[in-house]
Amino acid sequence: MLIGPTVEAGTVLQIIGDAIVAPLTERPASAEIGKRLFVSRESGHCVLCHRVEGLDAPFQGDIGPQLSDVGDRLSPGQLRLRIVDSSILNAQTIMPPYYRSENLHRVANAYEGETVLTALQIEHLVAYLSQRRSDMP
Ligand code: HEC
Repeated sequence: MLIGPTVEAGTVLQIIGDAIVAPLTERPASAEIGKRLFVSRESGHCVLCHRVEGLDAPFQGDIGPQLSDVGDRLSPGQLRLRIVDSSILNAQTIMPPYYRSENLHRVANAYEGETVLTALQIEHLVAYLSQRRSDMP
């Protein structure tokens, strides 16, 4: 299954099973930046719906599953697909698609044709969440 086109011209995201195996960009990802994006109101604001144990954030929601050990459950490719567009797996999901520029029904017009996060920001988040494992502090 292919989705696209995405904002990065010519890029088509290839979905294998329930994963996007290839990183969205060659640029190196940082788990530390991913952690900040996860909390930040201006970017991901994932804590609105998700909890990660030990995370220094004033508020953490529980609308979505806790992600403290999500790295045990999901591979980087599976994480990537869910952050890019969870509605591929669950049409009813309330989780916003963070890297899809087509069929974005839930975003305001100002965002039309743009993704919510950049390819590199998605990769920072994948790096951060991949490290959320029960065998790591
Ligand atoms: C409006 C609420 C909401 C926001 C904001 C949100 N999510 Fe989600 N997320 C969900 C829900 C609900 C699910 C459960 C699966 C579904 O509904 O499809 C989910 C599922 C997931 C999963 C799969 C977890 C599992 O155990 O299967 C990951 C990974 C994830 N979200 C990451 C993120 C990241 C990273 C962000 C921020 C960029 C984010 N989410 C923002 C609601 C949200």
